[in-house]
Amino acid sequence: MHEQGFKASSTGLVPGMPPEPCVVVILGVAGDLARTTLVPSLYALGCQRLLPEPFALLGVARRAWNDDTFRDAIRTYAQEKYDTTGVVRDMVQNHLLQLLCMAAMEPPVSYDGVTLRNETVKVLQAIRPVDVQRDCVLGQYRAGELDNHELRAYRDEENVPPDSATPTFAALKLTLDNWRWARVPFYVRTGKRLPRKCTEISIYFKPTPHLMFPVDNGGQWHNNILTFCLQPNEDIVQTFFAKQPGPDICLRPVTMHFRYDLTFGITHPPSAYEWLLHDAMQGAQTLFARSDLIYEAWSLVDPVMTYWEAQGARDLSLYPAGTWGPEAAEALVARDGRVWHMR
Ligand SMILES: NC(=O)c1ccc[n+]([C@@H]2O[C@H](COP(=O)([O-])OP(=O)(O)OC[C@H]3O[C@@H](n4cnc5c(N)ncnc54)[C@H](OP(=O)(O)O)[C@@H]3O)[C@@H](O)[C@H]2O)c1
Repeated sequence: MHEQGFKASSTGLVPGMPPEPCVVVILGVAGDLARTTLVPSLYALGCQRLLPEPFALLGVARRAWNDDTFRDAIRTYAQEKYDTTGVVRDMVQNHLLQLLCMAAMEPPVSYDGVTLRNETVKVLQAIRPVDVQRDCVLGQYRAGELDNHELRAYRDEENVPPDSATPTFAALKLTLDNWRWARVPFYVRTGKRLPRKCTEISIYFKPTPHLMFPVDNGGQWHNNILTFCLQPNEDIVQTFFAKQPGPDICLRPVTMHFRYDLTFGITHPPSAYEWLLHDAMQGAQTLFARSDLIYEAWSLVDPVMTYWEAQGARDLSLYPAGTWGPEAAEALVARDGRVWHMR
């Protein structure tokens, strides 16, 4: 028998109730059922913050596994599953849609788990079903290079079948059918093996109907942009137009940068998981998904997956590892006269 702490964050499965720590015992943990179903399911729950904390997995089998072998096996079971999970189920369904909800929700009447999540679920309810052929690009990385290091293709990674059609990149255009966001497009993208890890939300403001000042920006108009950076640093960056020095009236884009850690003198900010554990212990549920939100998110993502799985690898756009994704993703925004935001 071996014991393994399972990397997971927590939530209350019963609304309003703090989660109970628990141990799941798998009898026959070395077998097929555990490998293909039980451990991947626990992993998926963990990724969606639906496991209590602390959580432990106890395995029983006949073979003489020690703790290290057991940990390796569990890790492999979870990794193998990524190939049948892919970036849409792994990232879009929960992380990206949650961020979209945070950006697009109406102000809640107070900051608590019930009222905040009431507002976020309304955002998902307003998202129009995705026109997969027109508004969705899925890709998979091929061999590439980053910082003079060669990166292998996804299909050459360990535990990945050589003909895998699993997407490692997704870009979508989403539209909300509600009063505030009618005709405002939301573009989301996520991927593996991109040039750097960053999580941010950028809001492009509409240009004023008429601009009375000349702009020194190569003849190009430029939107004011407000960017909320979540990773690697917590920043807020505002790009706007300012008058250039001198007697002439002429504007050009400038940026104003707020860095949370520098402003407040934080040298070692707590990790995201530390915050989650803290909130779990306090019974604070604002950061945890509620079941209605999960149902809405899956009902949006399921048709996308159904379509793409029926296509197999046929329409999957390959992109070199170490780049920002397939050209088709650039085209998705370019046809609306836009580019992906890059700082
Ligand atoms: N596979 C499925 O999709 C599936 C679906 C529904 C139900 N089931 C049922 O779930 C059960 C397990 O299925 P499985 O496919 O995982 O079987 P399996 O691949 O044959 O694995 C059996 C597991 O049980 C362990 N085991 C067997 N005898 C044991 C004993 N005396 N003491 C301790 N551990 C023992 C084995 O350990 P060692 O490997 O170390 O010998 C192995 O980990 C079966 O009853 C099966 O009918 C399976």
